[in-house]
Amino acid sequence: MRKLKHLFERNKNWSEKIKESDPEFFFNLSKQQSPKYLWIGCADSRVPANQIVDLMPGEVFVHRNIANLVVHTDLNSLSVIQYAVEVLKVKHIIVCGHYGCGGVQAAMQNNALGLIDNWLRHIRDTYRNYQGEIDRVEDEKGKLNLLCEKNVIEQVANLSHSTTVQNAWKNGQELAIHGWIYSIQNGILKDLNVCTTGLDEISQTYRVK
Ligand code: CO
Repeated sequence: MRKLKHLFERNKNWSEKIKESDPEFFFNLSKQQSPKYLWIGCADSRVPANQIVDLMPGEVFVHRNIANLVVHTDLNSLSVIQYAVEVLKVKHIIVCGHYGCGGVQAAMQNNALGLIDNWLRHIRDTYRNYQGEIDRVEDEKGKLNLLCEKNVIEQVANLSHSTTVQNAWKNGQELAIHGWIYSIQNGILKDLNVCTTGLDEISQTYRVK
């Protein structure tokens, strides 16, 4: 009960399998990490960053939380973003949501869940921004999935408005912010085509001097 032995066994087999194809893999990786991508995704167990894009350890820096939110004052995600952009110098930040997100669904229901309701309020804000468009969708599932997409789009905007990202662009650093959505049903990613690559693409309202 305390030891979770089966997980340690799986870990051993996994590391051995990697060493079989590349005996120096872990040694080389231990010297440094230089991922090109920062992934901001949902904590949902069905949306594992590395596996979805088939990347090895060392290739993607990952931050996950409920409903893949980038909240203006969340020091956790802001610290990850700052470190990834300024120290690791990632070239791409991917916000990846997923259809059927439980966080998005919970945000739209009126059941009190506790502390998490405050976190989920951010999704309600997004719903309010797009209410007309979302309410025009007839079926509930369609409404939810559209809100999942809008949620990603809003987080791409929030990221672009962060001081870290704006400073990087101001300093001429190459950095693209992408918004993607993943389907748990078929394992396929969709690009929401909201890629943002510079200050001239964000609203004047949010620009810092
Ligand atoms: Co989710």
